[in-house]
Amino acid sequence: MKANRLRLLAFLLIVSIIVVAAGCPGIIARRAGLPPGEYGTQAVRSVMVTMRDGTRLATDIYLPKADGPFPVIIERTPYGKGGGNALIAQLFAGHGFAFVLQDVRGRYGSDGDWYPFRNEGDDGEDTFNWITKQSWCNGKIGLWGVSYFGYTEWQTANHAGGELKAFSPIFTASRIYEAAWRNGVFNNLTASQWGFENRGHDARAGIQYRPGRSFTAPLIAQDSHAGAEVGFYRDWVRHPRFDSYWRRQSSDDYWRKIDAPALMVGGWYDLFLGSTLGDWEKITTEAGPRAREGSRLFIGPWAHGGAHRLGGVDFGMSADFLHFSKIFFTWFDYYLRGQSVAMPARVNLFTTGIDQWRTYNEWPPADARRHPLFLHSGGHANGEGDGALNRQNPTSEQEDRFTHDPKNLVPTIGGPLLLPSISGPFDASANGRRNDVLVYTSDVFGADLEFTGPVGAYIWLATDTPDVDLSVTLLDVDPSGVARGLTDGVTRARYRNGDTPEWLPANRPVEIKVDLWALSHVFRRGHRLQIYLAASNYPRYAPNPCTRADPGTTTTFVKSHIQVLHDAEHPSRVMLFTR
Ligand code: BEZ
Repeated sequence: MKANRLRLLAFLLIVSIIVVAAGCPGIIARRAGLPPGEYGTQAVRSVMVTMRDGTRLATDIYLPKADGPFPVIIERTPYGKGGGNALIAQLFAGHGFAFVLQDVRGRYGSDGDWYPFRNEGDDGEDTFNWITKQSWCNGKIGLWGVSYFGYTEWQTANHAGGELKAFSPIFTASRIYEAAWRNGVFNNLTASQWGFENRGHDARAGIQYRPGRSFTAPLIAQDSHAGAEVGFYRDWVRHPRFDSYWRRQSSDDYWRKIDAPALMVGGWYDLFLGSTLGDWEKITTEAGPRAREGSRLFIGPWAHGGAHRLGGVDFGMSADFLHFSKIFFTWFDYYLRGQSVAMPARVNLFTTGIDQWRTYNEWPPADARRHPLFLHSGGHANGEGDGALNRQNPTSEQEDRFTHDPKNLVPTIGGPLLLPSISGPFDASANGRRNDVLVYTSDVFGADLEFTGPVGAYIWLATDTPDVDLSVTLLDVDPSGVARGLTDGVTRARYRNGDTPEWLPANRPVEIKVDLWALSHVFRRGHRLQIYLAASNYPRYAPNPCTRADPGTTTTFVKSHIQVLHDAEHPSRVMLFTR
C-alpha cells in the first residue's frame, strides 16, 4: 500500500474503524462511547473559496440538519477531503457543529501550486475570515487536525487571534523543520517517504522511496533515484538549520498572538514527540493567557497514529485511540458549544511499563528529580562487552573505541518513524551485538523504578574526522534479553554549539549533548536500563560524510574512528528524571 495512504489510515484510528464499520458514523460513535449524533447532516460540496491572490480552494461544508447558525470546526488537509475525512466531518456535524473540510492549495480539488507548508498561514487566515462571514457560522470557530493538517492549525492559529476559540493539534509540530531535520541530521526516512509520496497534485503523482541496505549519495538526488525530481525535497536538503526558510513556516514569531486553548495530543513513539513537547512549552509560557491557561497535553503510547499495539507490545485498551477520541467532542462541546462538561487535567501521560494514564499539573511533573546515570567500562563496551551504567561518578577508566564505516551503517530498528507498522519498541538487541555500537547496561533493578521527564545525554568523544553523528538510544532490557527502545536522539557534531559549523579537533575530547526527548516508563523489577551509542541509524537518518563537505551534495563518505571517554575529567552520562 502506498505510504501516503498507510499513514493517513494509521494516524487516524478513527478513520480505520470508520472503514471497518462500513462507513457508518453511528457505529463509530457508539464504538467510541459517544452519544449518538443528535442531528441528521447535510453537505454542500466543492464550494470554491477565493484566497487573497485569487486562487480558489475546494471546500466541503457539513451542517447539522437544524436551524443555524452553528459553531464551526475547520480541517484543512493535503490528503483529499473525501473518504475518512468526510466521515469525520459527518460525525462532528451530527453532534451540532458545522464542519468545514478543505483541500489545501494545489492538492485534489483545489487550484494553485502545491508546495508543502508554505501557503498554510495565508490560506488558513483567508479561509478563517471567509467562514466568519457565512450565515451558518455563529462566530465560535475551532480547528482540528492530525499531522500535516494539524500543522495547518498552527498556521491558522498564528493569524486568527482572539477569534479562534479552541483547537486540537494531534501528532504534529508548529516547527515543521523537525519533520525534515533533527539537530542538523536529515530525517531521511520520514522526509523522503512523505515528500516523494506527496510530491504532486494528488496520491496518483506519488513515487515511492525504497531505501537500499546502503546509502546512495548524493542525498539531494535521492528523488531522481526514486523516479522524479521533487523541488521542495531539494529545498529541504538545502536548509539543514532552522533558518528563515523554515522560520517563516513556523509559529516562532507568533506565540504571543496565539490565544486559544489547544488540546495537544502526541505519542511516545511519534516522530513529532520532541516538537509536541516543544510546542507545549511555548504555548504554556509565551502564548496569550487563554492559551497558556486552557491548553491541555496528552501523550499516549502511540506512534504517528493511534494504534495501541506497536513493535510487538500491546499497551492495552486504555490506549485505544478511538475510545480516546471522545475527548475531541468534549473539548469542542466545552469551548464552542458552551456545554458544562468536565475538562481533563492539564497534563495527561500514559506511563509505559505499567500501562497506566496518570495526570499532572505540569510537564515535567513537579515531583520529578534529576537522576544521572554515568557510563563506565574497562574499555570494551562494544556489543555485549563490559559497559555499565550507574550513579557513581567515574574516576580513571579506559575509553571505549569503535569505527563508523559508511559502507556498513547501523540499521534502523523501530523508533519514531512515519509508518506506524515499523515504528515503536521493536527488539533492537541485534544492534546491541554489533561491534560499532557501544552498549552500557545498568544492574538488574530489584524493584520497579520510574523515569518520567526529559532525557539528555552528555557524551565525551574524540574522533579522527572533522565531523561525526552521535546517536543515542535508551532501552528497557527484560530478563530474557529483549531490548526495546524507549526514546532516542542524535546530534551532528559540527552543530554541537549552534548553527555555525564547528569542526572537531582531531582526536581531542569534546562534550556532545544529545536530546533524547522524553519518556514516562516504569522499569519493572528484573529489567535493566541500557544505552546504545552509535554513529549512524540508517535509513532513518542520512549518514554523516564525516568530512567538511556539504552532506546534501557530497559523494565522499569516510570512516571515522571514535573514542568515547568516561573518566573523572570526562564524565559521560545520561540525565533522566525519576519519581
Ligand atoms: C503527515 O501528514 O503525516 C506528515 C507531514 C509532513 C511530514 C511528516 C508527516
